[in-house]
Amino acid sequence: MSATLRSVPRPDFREVAREAVEAKAPALALRQRPRRNRKAEWSRRLVRETVLTADDLIWPIFLIDGEGRREPVSSMPGVERLTVDQAVREAERAASLRIPAIGLFPYTDHSLRDARGSEALNGKNLVCRAIRAVKAAVPAIGIITDVALDPFTSHGHDGLLHDDGRILNDETVAVLIEQALVQAAAGADVVAPCDMMDGRVGAIRDALDRAGFGDVQIMAYAAKYASAFYGPFRDAIGTRLKGDKLTYQMDPHNGAEALREVALDLAEGADMVMVKPGLPYLDVVRRVKETFDVPTFAYQVSGEYAMVMAAAGHGWIDGERAMIESLVAFKRAGADGILTYFAPRVAERLQASL
Ligand code: PBG
Repeated sequence: MSATLRSVPRPDFREVAREAVEAKAPALALRQRPRRNRKAEWSRRLVRETVLTADDLIWPIFLIDGEGRREPVSSMPGVERLTVDQAVREAERAASLRIPAIGLFPYTDHSLRDARGSEALNGKNLVCRAIRAVKAAVPAIGIITDVALDPFTSHGHDGLLHDDGRILNDETVAVLIEQALVQAAAGADVVAPCDMMDGRVGAIRDALDRAGFGDVQIMAYAAKYASAFYGPFRDAIGTRLKGDKLTYQMDPHNGAEALREVALDLAEGADMVMVKPGLPYLDVVRRVKETFDVPTFAYQVSGEYAMVMAAAGHGWIDGERAMIESLVAFKRAGADGILTYFAPRVAERLQASL
């Protein structure tokens, strides 16, 4: 250490603090005291900027074949795969909790998966049967279905896989069009292309309109990143992915590119756009909302759910509070709604606090 540094006398901190208090300088100088508005619960409620309600929630539900069965998803504590009859019961519960919409995700029997994802085009596949059953029993709830081939392909990709390892764009879009029509015909209210092929939103919009499904909305997974946070979802739908999705899903390093993706999907006719995953991408949610000011959704994905549940399970965090706080964060960032596995739990809590 240099001699000059050592020669500076160290002030007596307690002395300095006592002088400051005696001078009452802070109290006099501060006209603005942000803590005043936080002094009581009524006041905090009064100045609150964002409010989370049941109207903000979309509940993704996993389906399995059979009847009267519920299977826990091991990497997602509290989440189960449901047979169609059970899914109908949960849709009824969702409607009574005022959750506006559910998403349906099938665990396709492995014997029905092939390289081309043919089962996606079967009008009597699991997801189509669930759409019909829920529509018949709970007509007032919105039904959203994924347009992508991954629950149906043996290799786990969202599109058609060429021998040389490429995912074929235009050939995939041709299949996705048919998949969307099959879902619309079964009664889906919203189709949600989540495959990230180029040009699929426009192609699906044209086909829906031509086939007389002009009212079917498109929620585009517009900015969907190649993320490690999808792990538990792949477990839930039984996907064994060969390779990775880096040539079609977005690079997590990019933000401006998300705006270009959203612009394209809107130009092609998307009614709503989505950013996915959620919490690690709130900057993207904010940029999308501020740039386009269209209905903007975010997906709190399986890995985000699993992290909260795992930490809460160990007693490391308060799971209930972390759940609410994370969903409020989506709203604060500008999201109009959130796809979340917490949906029924949050809605129950919100109802109880009314
Ligand atoms: C399928 C799809 C995925 C998710 C939703 N739709 C997985 C993936 O793209 O690999 C992830 C949802 C979640 O993790 O909760 N294309």
